[in-house]
Amino acid sequence: SLPKRVKIVEVGPRDGLQNEPIPLSLETKIALVEKLVDAGLSVVEVGSFVSPKWVPQMAGSAEVYAGIQLRAGVSYPMLVPNLKGMESALAAGVQEIAIFAAASETFSQKNTHCSIAESFERFAAVMQQAQAHQIKVRGYVSCVLGCPYEGEIAVEQVAAVAGQLYDLGCYEVSLGDTVGVGTPLKAQAMITAVAKRIPIEQLAAHFHDTYGQGLANLFAVLQLGVATMDSSVSGLGGCPYAKGASGNVATEDLLYMLNGLGIETGVDMAKLLAASRFISASLGRSPASKLGKILAP
Ligand code: HMG
Ligand code: MG
Repeated sequence: SLPKRVKIVEVGPRDGLQNEPIPLSLETKIALVEKLVDAGLSVVEVGSFVSPKWVPQMAGSAEVYAGIQLRAGVSYPMLVPNLKGMESALAAGVQEIAIFAAASETFSQKNTHCSIAESFERFAAVMQQAQAHQIKVRGYVSCVLGCPYEGEIAVEQVAAVAGQLYDLGCYEVSLGDTVGVGTPLKAQAMITAVAKRIPIEQLAAHFHDTYGQGLANLFAVLQLGVATMDSSVSGLGGCPYAKGASGNVATEDLLYMLNGLGIETGVDMAKLLAASRFISASLGRSPASKLGKILAP
């Protein structure tokens, strides 16, 4: 049976905008987060404390965070790759961070210039600081359904890396199909393998839509009980280290599917579409989502 409720984790302001060539003002980034929270999203990933040399789009993340009217009951996680990023997170006063590992050695090197094992040395130090300051930590695994450099990735390898994040103390592990190459039965096989290591309630699906499989893959894992799904308003997104990766599944398209299935999310479609139109207009284009195109005024 399907879950009665799904928690949508909105990653557009981070995963979306990190790959956006058009620079946006601080005010636009802040307004986007506010509109998404207004629409009823209870988790909105705001930005990253990573090297601005590698991801210049996320350079103003501390200022964006400082500009948001934080609301009770809403989480505003920030990506943190290492202790330096953790120091920035502490200085900004964030309450939640996300650390990110990869199931592929080559992707780990390209994305964070270190091996998977070295990334866990960094995360151990980050986690220690987080726990000392009562900061919640979410974990990501990239390349769970394939790697742009190595191709197929064994589900056992995904389960091992995800399990390591969980053992370290992540309250939730988000499984990223970074390049969107997965298909539904492969997505189910991957979740089944990871669920042997981590309770399914603590797993999230983070699927990119590069090959148009995002919603199909989400429906496939929904049937296994995955009830947390990452998506980007307007279908923004990608990854600067994954050539050709298009956006995450669009939040409004995901919401349409969940509404049709009678699954609660707490998200208001009209307000979400307004946020989608707002960010698309700010970027000078039409929404990449199906709904954004159909329901354009
Ligand atoms: P590095 O170059 O190996 O690190 O970067 P380093 O320690 O040798 O430092 C080099 C320089 O970076 C130094 O500055 C450091 O101060 C600075 P310099 O002396 O040259 O002026 N530095 C930093 N600056 C700001 N914040 C920091 C920081 N750390 C070092 N935290 C590092 C290692 C991980 C920092 C770098 O490779 C990096 O920032 N990579 C970017 C990774 C990234 O943001 N990728 C995209 C997000 S992951 C993703 O999208 C996937 C996901 O969506 C899930 C999915 O779809 O699969 C989550
Ligand atoms: Mg991603």
